Amino acid sequence: MTDRFSGQTVLVTGGAQGLGRAMVSRFAAEGASVHVADRNAVALAAMSAELCTELPGKIVPKVLDVSDSDQVTDWIDQSVATEGKIDVLINNAGIIRDNRVEKISDDDWDAVIAVNLNAAFYGVRAALPHMREMGYGRILSFSSMSWRGNFGQANYVAAKAGIVGLTRTVALEGAKFGITANAIAPGLIETPMLASMNGSARDKLVKKVPLAHTGAPEDIAAAAAFLASPEARYITGVVLDVDGGLGIGSSIR
Ligand code: NAI
Repeated sequence: MTDRFSGQTVLVTGGAQGLGRAMVSRFAAEGASVHVADRNAVALAAMSAELCTELPGKIVPKVLDVSDSDQVTDWIDQSVATEGKIDVLINNAGIIRDNRVEKISDDDWDAVIAVNLNAAFYGVRAALPHMREMGYGRILSFSSMSWRGNFGQANYVAAKAGIVGLTRTVALEGAKFGITANAIAPGLIETPMLASMNGSARDKLVKKVPLAHTGAPEDIAAAAAFLASPEARYITGVVLDVDGGLGIGSSIR
């Protein structure tokens, strides 16, 4: 591992498990002070206890609900007060509540939009003034390969497509301040979210992946670390598919 993020402050939402945890591990391995927000207090404490003993960076956990605007703003302001700055914001927390459109309740619509989309907006809005002041920032938000449309996921797809629009707009507004904004659209990655999917539906999908296997959380963490690094300075407003080629669509041969 390099020390690319030594001296940097990286904020990750939903970092207690899954992709978030892999990113916390990667950034801390590369020397960052990683502030991690998650609503799952038990998983958050376990993650931070396990990772902080073995990695050179620092991990600062905070229990909060990212769908609450005030909690997100306070977390970002407090992290900046502690570290003096924020270099990287990763809007990763997400949930699914799948159903066909006519069966999606108001609650299931609102909850999915709140965690997957509203939370990213709250984070970006709170982080931007601090990043602008420094003349530097990297914002990464989690979309999904399904942002293009997916059966049974209207709420999730609407949120993940919203992430693309938010990212492209923040890329424009942040550009002259040295701030880049990009999105990652993962495919089938081995996390608790994927494990919650029905087994046969999952197997059918894996067969469609050109690289013929699911991804590991570390594959996402590697892409995130690159996009969040100073080296990625000329990349902004993109949606990076990390999906083994699944997003290409079906081949006629
Ligand atoms: P996960 O379910 O394994 O982990 C999500 C984390 O977010 C958990 O630690 C959870 O406690 C936290 N969280 C959920 N709601 C929260 C809230 N209101 N406040 C604070 N924390 C909250 O999910 P996974 O698989 O790691 O996904 C991470 C991101 O990647 C999500 O945005 C997801 O939509 C996206 N994604 C994942 C894919 C996959 O195959 N795993 C595929 C495409 C996108």
